Amino acid sequence: MSDQWIPPSQQRRGLDLAALGIPPGRYIHPDVSEFLDFPGGDREGAARIDSYLHREIGLDDLQPTEVDFIRQHFLKCAEEQLQKCIAHFETKVPRRYSTARPNAIATAWAQSVVTNPDETRSLLVVGPTGTGKTHYAYSVLRAIAETGRSTGWVAYTAADLYAQLRPRAGRDSEATFEAIVGTDVLFVDDLGAAKLTEWTEEVTYRLINNRYEQCRPSIFTSNVPPTQLRDVLGERIASRLTEMCERVALKGDDRRKGMAA
Ligand SMILES: Nc1ncnc2c1ncn2[C@@H]1O[C@H](COP(=O)(O)OP(=O)(O)O)[C@@H](O)[C@H]1O
Ligand SMILES: [Mg+2]
Repeated sequence: MSDQWIPPSQQRRGLDLAALGIPPGRYIHPDVSEFLDFPGGDREGAARIDSYLHREIGLDDLQPTEVDFIRQHFLKCAEEQLQKCIAHFETKVPRRYSTARPNAIATAWAQSVVTNPDETRSLLVVGPTGTGKTHYAYSVLRAIAETGRSTGWVAYTAADLYAQLRPRAGRDSEATFEAIVGTDVLFVDDLGAAKLTEWTEEVTYRLINNRYEQCRPSIFTSNVPPTQLRDVLGERIASRLTEMCERVALKGDDRRKGMAA
C-alpha cells in the first residue's frame, strides 16, 4: 500500500477522481487484494483495478463493481481526511470560539482559499468590540478545516504577534517572522487595538505587504472604524488593507454585555 498524493496535474487517464465524485485530498491507494472480498470481486477485476491505479487503463475499462470498490475506498479516505482536519482544527481553536460555525459567506471564502488561494482576497473583519469579529474569524478557519484540505493556519492577536517578534537575545526573530508570514492562512486579531509604535508599525507593514506580495490570504480583525484606519494604523498599512481585503462589517451590541450574569 502506498501513501500517495496525486496532484491534479498528474491525474492522467486512469485516476479520474473527479469523475468518481471523490473530493480532493490525500489518499492511500487501496489494497487491491481486498477487492476479492468485495461483492462480485474476482482476480481479474483486482488486476484491472491495479492497472487503473497505475494509470494503464481508464475508468471506462472497469466493471461497475470495480468502479464501486474504488469509489468506496477513496470516499472512505476522503472522510478520514476530513475528520483529521476537523480534529486538528479543534485542537487549535481557543475554547471560547470552539462553537463558532461558518455561515454561507465564510464557507464560500474558505472554498476559494483552498482551491484558488492566489486569487482570494484577504478578509478584514471590522466592527465595535463584542460584535463577534474573533468568533467570525474562527468560523472561517473552521470552514477551511471542513473542506478536508490540510491548509495550514496560524492565529495571533496583534499584541501576541509583536511579543513573538520582538528582538530578544538568543532568538532569531527574523526566522519567526518568516515562519509566520509563510503560513497558508494567517489570522491577526485586533489590529490597531494598541497604539502603534514605529517598530510595531514597521512589523505590521512588512507582514501585510509580504502576504500581499506572495498572494497569500489572511484574516484581519479590527475595531477601528474604517474612517479612522489611516489615523490609527498609518497610511501605508491602511491603504494596503483597503486594497487587498474584502471587508466584513459586523454590527450590533456588545455580545459580552448580554452574557454578563
Ligand atoms: N454569531 C455568534 N453566535 C454566538 N455567539 C457569538 C457570536 N459571535 C460572537 N459570539 C460570542 O460573543 C462574544 C464576543 O464575541 P467576539 O468574537 O469575542 O467579539 P469581538 O472579537 O468582536 O470583540 C464571545 O463570547 C463570542 O463567543
Ligand atoms: Mg476579538
